[in-house]
Amino acid sequence: MAAAATTCCRRSAPAALLAVAALLCTTTTGGSAAGAGQPLDVGYYNKTCPAAEEIVRNETAAAVRESPDLAAALLRLHYHDCFVQGCDASVLLDSTPTNTAEKDAMPNGSLRGFDLVARVKDRLERACPATVSCADILALMARDAVALSKGPSWSVGLGRRDGRTSSAGSCGELPPLHGDVNLLVQAFAAKGLDVKDLVVLSGAHTLGKAHCPSYADRLYPSAGCSTADPALDARYADRLRLRCASANNADDDSSSNSTSELDPGSCVTFDTSYYRHVARRRGLLRSDAYLLDHRFTRAYVLQAASGRYDGHFFHDFAVSMAKMASIGVLTGDQGEIRTKCNVVN
Ligand code: HEM
Repeated sequence: MAAAATTCCRRSAPAALLAVAALLCTTTTGGSAAGAGQPLDVGYYNKTCPAAEEIVRNETAAAVRESPDLAAALLRLHYHDCFVQGCDASVLLDSTPTNTAEKDAMPNGSLRGFDLVARVKDRLERACPATVSCADILALMARDAVALSKGPSWSVGLGRRDGRTSSAGSCGELPPLHGDVNLLVQAFAAKGLDVKDLVVLSGAHTLGKAHCPSYADRLYPSAGCSTADPALDARYADRLRLRCASANNADDDSSSNSTSELDPGSCVTFDTSYYRHVARRRGLLRSDAYLLDHRFTRAYVLQAASGRYDGHFFHDFAVSMAKMASIGVLTGDQGEIRTKCNVVN
């Protein structure tokens, strides 16, 4: 994955977008992320499937206990679902002979956890047939994955319905990996999320790993850029180069498949050490590094990196996740309740 020439080198001037420093540590309020239709309801399955949350939690816990890195996969699945066509489980649908689904779009190539979601859905179908949507399952599993990784927990509003369409072409709605912080702010704003949500939800990179092609272009000179990314700590870049060959050498399978932890040393624990890496110019992805380019996000990163605001970050993360989980939801008689998450009924 090579960076476009214009995006390779560091922008010199930090973007000064919004003077929102006073909002640090305050709760995000309002937000227009929710879709039209009925509001989500924490007790939505109380009567129709009272065991739903427990079933999801037990299955998720068993899987994460066995493979702790699955927590990252589940969190990312929910994010990729919500940003593309809303939280409607469209990310779970398979391609058909006439349609390439989101799942098979380039940015989704490394999504994981589909089998686990299918297993949970099967359990729920046995307990309460045709009742619990795949979109709700994704929201609950993401919440449980974070909690199981020693992160915060929160109440999840429920009642989402599943979409009937999924198109690879819609994946352009995902925030860009390359560009600058302004583009990230815009991509979040397009979903009703603000700059605080951007820096808080980027904290999800406290979990999981990235494949070499996602950051190789930061490590080597490339077209239009005579140096490695100057925003990346040089010693850290040296270490990363040992595992990740040149972006121009993408045919090298062993390198393409190699991964690095997004939060080195702590990638299965949900904590604030991601922000410490970003503050030291050791954020792995360009989007992590861009957080230092904006007045508000930089201030938040530095504050979280201090280690004295873990409780604030946990609170903020729960609030922002609830906002993200309500992007473009289908409710009422919209969409359907799929019986299998990978195909429409
Ligand atoms: C701000 C814009 C974002 C960009 C550009 C971005 C991009 C990426 C990329 C390129 C990877 C590595 C993929 C790979 O190489 O396999 C990744 C991993 C990950 N992302 Fe993000 N991301 C963003 C925001 C988010 C948000 C908002 C969340 C969740 C709330 C999230 C959760 C994750 C997780 C958990 C992983 C690790 C996945 C795994 O280990 O399987 N990301 N992200």
